[in-house]
Amino acid sequence: MSEPVTFSAPKGTFDVLAPASRGYERLIATFAALVEAAGYGLVLSPMFEDIGVFQRVGESTDVVRKEMYDFHDKGDPPRHLALRPEGTASVVRAFVEHRPPLPFKAWYAAPSFRYEAPQAGRYRQHHQLGVEALGTGDPDLDVEVIGLLARFFQAVGLRQVECRITSLGDATCRPAYRAELEAFLAARADRLCDEHRTRYADNPLRVLDCKKPACVAATADAPHQVERLCEPCRHHYQRVKDGLVAGSVTFTEDPRLVRGLDYYTRTTFEFAAAALSIAHDAVGGGGRYDGLAEALGGPPTPGIGFGCGIERVLLACAAEGVDLTAGGGVVAFVVDTTGGEQARDLTRELRDAGIPADRAWDQRSFKAQFKAANRSGARVAVIVGSDEAARGVVAVKPLRHDGEQVEVARDQLIELVRKMADDAD
Ligand code: HAM
Repeated sequence: MSEPVTFSAPKGTFDVLAPASRGYERLIATFAALVEAAGYGLVLSPMFEDIGVFQRVGESTDVVRKEMYDFHDKGDPPRHLALRPEGTASVVRAFVEHRPPLPFKAWYAAPSFRYEAPQAGRYRQHHQLGVEALGTGDPDLDVEVIGLLARFFQAVGLRQVECRITSLGDATCRPAYRAELEAFLAARADRLCDEHRTRYADNPLRVLDCKKPACVAATADAPHQVERLCEPCRHHYQRVKDGLVAGSVTFTEDPRLVRGLDYYTRTTFEFAAAALSIAHDAVGGGGRYDGLAEALGGPPTPGIGFGCGIERVLLACAAEGVDLTAGGGVVAFVVDTTGGEQARDLTRELRDAGIPADRAWDQRSFKAQFKAANRSGARVAVIVGSDEAARGVVAVKPLRHDGEQVEVARDQLIELVRKMADDAD
């Protein structure tokens, strides 16, 4: 046999065990309830796609140029595939393939993969909660989508999350603005950072997002798309802002907001957690992508959505003191020193009655089983020794405070556990 070796999770990835994983469960459950109540249905799509699907999200973006996990499969000829770096392209590809009735309102909770330099809040595998809504350009849908993300953060208990929005225009007003910005940058190219000095023409907007002091200084008086919107885009943007105000969604306008993906049109937005450092404070973001379905071979179909990073939300919760891991777990823990049959039957009965229950294994000593009961976080221990078994009773002992141990006939156990568990709350 070869030497045993040890492995750990690949760089930039991590395992999540209970109780930390409860935070994930809670966020997903809260999100699912919220978006299902607004008419969104769960969509599952493959974790990998033809690389072309993701290339459509933007040839000039880091996500596509530098961070894609791509590989060739064993097909003949091999297919060029990539792990999903984000959810939108996959959902739109699925929409184009299946043409569900419109509007198509979908949500997902799924891992995404980006070959980034790992650091706090930036991982090579992260998990996104997201919605995508296709089939209407109605600005009130933008209000619904942004409002859902704002409500989600509220429901989670986060207080210090700020929403910024802007409009990136459309195929009518964007080209002229882009040309204007490009000319503006050309006149100052020598003042831009090393990366953008030669590459600003690939996507001039991205220069506005560059955090390097050279670019920030050189673009301080750059023109903004939001000041150059065509009439329909301006009207759309105004309606979105009015709708957010009507729905009490607090936001600020940020004309410099540029997102890291190229498909955006009109409304774009980002939510930042004030309690996190600026390098990873984006807890969610999204916008309209009215041209993406067409770019993926479908009919012209407007769409809008957002992605929200679960890990970032958990970091924000930790920073704001919101505990998502409390509660859960088992309520009753059966300690059986008669050989295990009582534990086998009682855990089944408790669970059938809707009381989460667990037990010890391997016929261990009373002391060892009781220790396990305490470690389990259960509210009560259900104890059966040979004496109790002979008399047809069980003892129930509270574990979270110094209450009395109570003996009860076996057929009244469920009622007593319910009562004592409630008292322990
Ligand atoms: P995104 O801004 O690239 O947008 O990602 C969405 C969210 O995922 C970010 O706000 C952040 O919370 C989280 N995130 C992104 N990259 C990482 C990472 N490396 N580590 C940890 N968290 C990360 C999108 O992906 C778009 N698909 C959103 C969208 C949906 N737009 C329209 N529809």
